[in-house]
Amino acid sequence: MDNLWRRKSIAALQKEATLKNGFKKTLGPINLTAIGIGAVIGAGIFVLTGQAAADYAGPAVVLSFVLAAICCGFAGLCYAEFASMIPIAGSAYTYAYATLGEMLAWFIGWDLILEYAVCASTVAVGWSGYMVSFLKTVGVHVPPDFIDAPGTHLIFLSSALLQKIHLSMPEGWYQLSAYARDVQAAGVNLADLPHATSLFNLPACLIVLLLTGVLIRGIKESATVNACIVALKICIVLLVIAVGAFYVTPSNWMPFLPKNTGEFGHFGLSGIVRAAGVVFFAYIGFDAVSTTAQEARNPQRDMPIGILGSLVICTILYILVSLVITGVAHYTKLNVSDPVAVAIDIMGMPWLSILVKLGAIAGLTSVILVFLMGQPRVFFSMSRDGLLPPSFSKMHPRFGTPVMTTAVTGVVVSLVSGFFPIGILGELVSIGTLFAFAVVCAGVLVLRYRQPDLERPFRTPLMPITPILGCLSCLYLACGLPGATWIRLLVWLGIGLCIYFLYGIKHSKLRLATELAVAPVEAEAVEVEAVPERLS
Ligand code: ALA
Repeated sequence: MDNLWRRKSIAALQKEATLKNGFKKTLGPINLTAIGIGAVIGAGIFVLTGQAAADYAGPAVVLSFVLAAICCGFAGLCYAEFASMIPIAGSAYTYAYATLGEMLAWFIGWDLILEYAVCASTVAVGWSGYMVSFLKTVGVHVPPDFIDAPGTHLIFLSSALLQKIHLSMPEGWYQLSAYARDVQAAGVNLADLPHATSLFNLPACLIVLLLTGVLIRGIKESATVNACIVALKICIVLLVIAVGAFYVTPSNWMPFLPKNTGEFGHFGLSGIVRAAGVVFFAYIGFDAVSTTAQEARNPQRDMPIGILGSLVICTILYILVSLVITGVAHYTKLNVSDPVAVAIDIMGMPWLSILVKLGAIAGLTSVILVFLMGQPRVFFSMSRDGLLPPSFSKMHPRFGTPVMTTAVTGVVVSLVSGFFPIGILGELVSIGTLFAFAVVCAGVLVLRYRQPDLERPFRTPLMPITPILGCLSCLYLACGLPGATWIRLLVWLGIGLCIYFLYGIKHSKLRLATELAVAPVEAEAVEVEAVPERLS
């Protein structure tokens, strides 16, 4: 039973961080901040802003972005303290191992699959949607068999029909469920339209495989590709803000916070909070910076810069974009999957619309890239601790990347994105991430009381208020998610627990090290790195 709560010592972890492990230390503060921005700006701002404004908060969605940023800020400060003190690729998993014990650490490692791998799949499907739509705009039509999850019913909407039903999209194949009502309302018989059923989502599969190849090639190469994509998407976001500012009609901001409809979460103050839960997804990813800690040249200084810098930059951009979108288009018109494009249509600039689609595609590409980068690094740490098989921590001698896990992660993520309709998985990603954030906040608090004198290159300010508010705000946002999502999380963690008891607990290097040590040696003092030699 003791094994479940056994902790790795901070000293052992810090030593582990300095050992030669195959990772190349090439990342500086700019690359790290770019990795954070790369993971953060994606589907959230390009898709969810509109829904959150139209359904919950109106123009006050801007305040929802501020609220979500404050919640993430608490967690970000706690991540920064840990990542600078324990620069190990395992991120929240490693921090939990050092503070809350092995079983909770396993839980978090398992839970991070929801944040990284499942998020990469979800965003890959979004990427496919934007790419197919962009190709339609330039007159290229991907066959309907290959643009969506298996079994998705599609209909062909011609230009004439789209004009008749007042939709400004290019002609092409669209989901039947999304447009059936518009078509029927225009008096058109659905049976008269060309129908097709999709077999699988080819673009989503391909983008994941392509980015997996880049990641296998090397961290420096991946960081460079990421930095280029991030530069492109920031330029396009800035362009939307700069041009949009001239088209704002201030009356669109009135009323800034529409009156509550009588239902909790539908406008009014509760609407701001509900919308904050939705746009929280837009901030997920800044913590992915911490998974590259072993590849940072100076993690003590640069981890906090990367984590907090990306969070601050993204918050500013989100506030400005949401102000511009709700100022250009009335919030009631924004309940669409491409709200930024709606605002641009109102400005009447088709060239900007194409650029925005490119920006969205670039944005989503870097999100997939960074999440695909984070997942194998968490597996790497779990494998080094013996909780996953050793093959998960094999490094490529030349590329300096965890080749096997990167490839396996890429293939699995690619298959999931190609074959699953993953709308609901977005919520699973959010709850999984909130769980991880809450554990990191709790971990910082526990460690401050247990080992107050440890050297902390970055200290979370306002202790203990910051981590307590961090935990509470994560819990609050998680409570806003549907009950079914909670059940899915529990089932997922239950599966993880079975794997832990069938494999992890038996192979845990910390357990083996402790058993081999002469009693009553504290597990704290055991050098985990020494285990392989002592066992052989
Ligand atoms: N924050 C990332 C996005 O919005 C996950 O796509």
